[in-house]
Amino acid sequence: MSETSLKSHQKIKLQVEIGTLALKNPVLLASGTCGYGMELKDLIDLRGLGGIVVKGISLEPRQGNPPPRIHETPCGLLNAIGLENVGIRAFKEQKIKWLKKEKITTIVNILGNTIEEYEKMARELDRVEGIDALEVNISCPNVKEGGVAFGTSPESAACVTKAVKKACTLPIIVKLSPNVTDICEIAIAVERAGADAISLINTLLGMAIDIQKRRPVLGNTFGGLSGPAIKPIALRMVWQVARATSIPVIGIGGITTWQDAIEFFMAGAKAIQVGTATLVDPGAGEKILHGIVDFMERNNYQSIDELKIGE
Ligand SMILES: Cc1cc2nc3c(=O)[nH]c(=O)nc-3n(C[C@H](O)[C@H](O)[C@H](O)COP(=O)(O)O)c2cc1C
Repeated sequence: MSETSLKSHQKIKLQVEIGTLALKNPVLLASGTCGYGMELKDLIDLRGLGGIVVKGISLEPRQGNPPPRIHETPCGLLNAIGLENVGIRAFKEQKIKWLKKEKITTIVNILGNTIEEYEKMARELDRVEGIDALEVNISCPNVKEGGVAFGTSPESAACVTKAVKKACTLPIIVKLSPNVTDICEIAIAVERAGADAISLINTLLGMAIDIQKRRPVLGNTFGGLSGPAIKPIALRMVWQVARATSIPVIGIGGITTWQDAIEFFMAGAKAIQVGTATLVDPGAGEKILHGIVDFMERNNYQSIDELKIGE
């Protein structure tokens, strides 16, 4: 949606505040589904969206997992990309410069295998021009704790949050893993550790088996499930976390239509991210934004906050 077409909706306040990060509207593209932005430049006007979350960056470049890395399921997508990325140096030297020049609100998703790696990433990205916030992916394995993901225990989730927060002045959004028993206990732990906002959910662990070859379909055996199949779970978790914490919540998981987005705002999300839907239709985010505005106009809502269902 172009900025000029949004100006006609002056009664509606589309801007949202995620801690100190001000977004012009609440529609973001999710990490891993919009590359580093420039991959979509000929397909959509990224500046019209609230912003983008770039593919997760690590200290060193990563090759990712062996193929096959993607498998479609009914209503969903299994991916085992394995966090392939260009690494922090190439990101700083090439990718962020284009995003800054284009004035695209940019949230950088970071990942690490130790607390020290997260801390180093945060320190190196602090004050890099063009970065508006960090999103901390805590679904990664903690190599010092036998490979258990940081996001599955309140203690390690809090440790990562504290380390990142101490190392950097940017707004910190902690992205939760849904592969846990009690999402609220993790959310409360990262809030207490200083997170400015929470985004959820990352993918749900799944697998598929090729019955002719009698072996798992994905090269990595397991992969992350995304897309419409996970929306009811994501919505339930956003509802719970929005009521268990008082920091802003960004809803992610299977959002494909504007109606999905409205459900997430009613559950308590202040902003949303569109992931797998962008892979199917690069214009999904723009269409969702249009639909949100129309719905708010038709129903006399003046701000995103008004959509939340009360206690
Ligand atoms: C191909 C692919 C790559 C992804 N890469 C990342 C990543 O690097 N970091 C991250 O935090 N999430 C990553 N995700 C998860 C998405 O950002 C999102 O949380 C998840 O897909 C659920 O949203 P959706 O159902 O709208 O896709 C990836 C998802 C997909 C499908």
